[in-house]
Amino acid sequence: MRITIICENTVGRRIGLGEHGFSAFIETDQGNYLFDTGSGRSVVKNSLELSKDLRTIKKIFLSHGHYDHTGGLPEVLKLTGKVDVHAHPHVFLDRFHVIKENGKETKRFVGLPFKKSYLESLGANFILNKDFIEIEKGIFLTGEVPRKTSFEKPDPGLFSDIDGKTDQDTFLDDQSLILDTGKGLILILGCAHSGMINIINHVIDKIGKENFYAILGGTHLDFLTAEQLDESIKVLKRIKIEKIGVCHCTGMRAAFRLHQEFGDRFFYGHVGSTLEI
Ligand SMILES: [Fe+2]
Ligand SMILES: [Fe+2]
Repeated sequence: MRITIICENTVGRRIGLGEHGFSAFIETDQGNYLFDTGSGRSVVKNSLELSKDLRTIKKIFLSHGHYDHTGGLPEVLKLTGKVDVHAHPHVFLDRFHVIKENGKETKRFVGLPFKKSYLESLGANFILNKDFIEIEKGIFLTGEVPRKTSFEKPDPGLFSDIDGKTDQDTFLDDQSLILDTGKGLILILGCAHSGMINIINHVIDKIGKENFYAILGGTHLDFLTAEQLDESIKVLKRIKIEKIGVCHCTGMRAAFRLHQEFGDRFFYGHVGSTLEI
């Protein structure tokens, strides 16, 4: 099994293009899968440079409806043709980022930038569900993640429209992918808007295993409060994690901190980073 990060904010080698977003290409004995699609400018270019053939993808998984995880869908679909796309029904919500700076408020659309019908015309077969599911043997999606920790708070700048009402985004659609391998669980996060620790606890609860071979992806650890980062790290250090390859919305301060705490078990998941087992 091999997981390669093909879209990410940074490049680490002289290969690929960095963009705000995330996508991971997953090769298994059962076939190849794509988790998220980046913002749209790098997914095809990087997959070609990294010799990952998007035409071989059996299924696409979407972590949530933000543009930086879904914006590459048309480019990917043009190569795959008809393909299952697993997501939560809220993936199509209109979403906004509101920034207040120098007394001025800016509202930016950050949702999935394409209509469902357009994506379907390109071959997307949406399979929408809210629950924890086993997609294929040993491959799971978390579905909605219960919010239980006291220290993981929603991002106050992010909003969504539900039934014509704009409110703080609760990200019920935020879901992660789990691969159950002989070496332990591999957990791939999109943005971890449900809270990284809530997600880990949900995975342990649902799968009944608590040894993680690797945790990869966006963690959103540096965007919220210092308390969230401290408390999350305390919990992470109590869990058996062999490798932690964070990136995307983790933030540099949180990534440096994780490097200090996890030493050689830490790596930064830039474009081209590969995890092989
Ligand atoms: Fe993101
Ligand atoms: Fe996000």
